[in-house]
Amino acid sequence: MERQQVALLHILISLSLQIIGPSFALNHFFIPEKEELFSECPDKPGFSFVDKLADLSRLNRKKDADGAVNISGNITMKWDVEPSSRIAVEVSVEKFEGGTWKPTVFKGGDRDFCKNFYDKNTIYYPFSTEHVINKQQVKDKCITTPGTVLVLEPFLLKILINFAVPLSPGRHKAVIIFSAFDKSGVKLPRDTCIEIVGEIVNI
Ligand SMILES: *[C@@H]1O[C@H](CO)[C@@H](O)[C@H](O)[C@H]1NC(C)=O
Ligand SMILES: *[C@@H]1O[C@H](CO)[C@@H](O)[C@H](O)[C@H]1NC(C)=O
Repeated sequence: MERQQVALLHILISLSLQIIGPSFALNHFFIPEKEELFSECPDKPGFSFVDKLADLSRLNRKKDADGAVNISGNITMKWDVEPSSRIAVEVSVEKFEGGTWKPTVFKGGDRDFCKNFYDKNTIYYPFSTEHVINKQQVKDKCITTPGTVLVLEPFLLKILINFAVPLSPGRHKAVIIFSAFDKSGVKLPRDTCIEIVGEIVNI
């Protein structure tokens, strides 16, 4: 089968792609529930939402009949942290079963997210930051420089899942938490939490 572009707003998803992983044999497809992809985290009161990190008002997202999402436009960073801050990210995948969200084995993270932000050698590069056309201008700015604009070439986001990943069809969500630490390692007060809810279906 055709190896579709598994792509997404890098800053938010690259880590879940790292866990879910592009692969040679794919048998599941993740269809986001919301065209705009992101939801607030209902189980995490007091966390900020994506609007604290970035202005997505010029980011176009359009879901097609197959559940793939066409993405284009610009993302403007607005997280009010020092450019030198260290960003840590944690991602976990939960499944909706028996009326509640239950953890799955998928939990991972990166304690220095900005270190590899545009690194071509990361497994998620072809699916994410590859689509940032102005990467030469913004590559040192990561998500910690307010006002930075990431210009995305239009691409089709289709999240395919490796058969080796023990996720079965059904409603799932990726819960993504961003934390920032200042130069002396002190954590900034409010973490940001973003969810992507969707359905895993067989191809
Ligand atoms: C999505 O983009 C593809 C080309 O990348 C295009 O063929 C298709 O019509 C677009 N679909 C929507 C819903 O915009
Ligand atoms: C994104 O930014 C580029 C470069 O500044 C601009 O040409 C383009 O019109 C912008 N697109 C949107 C959807 O705002």
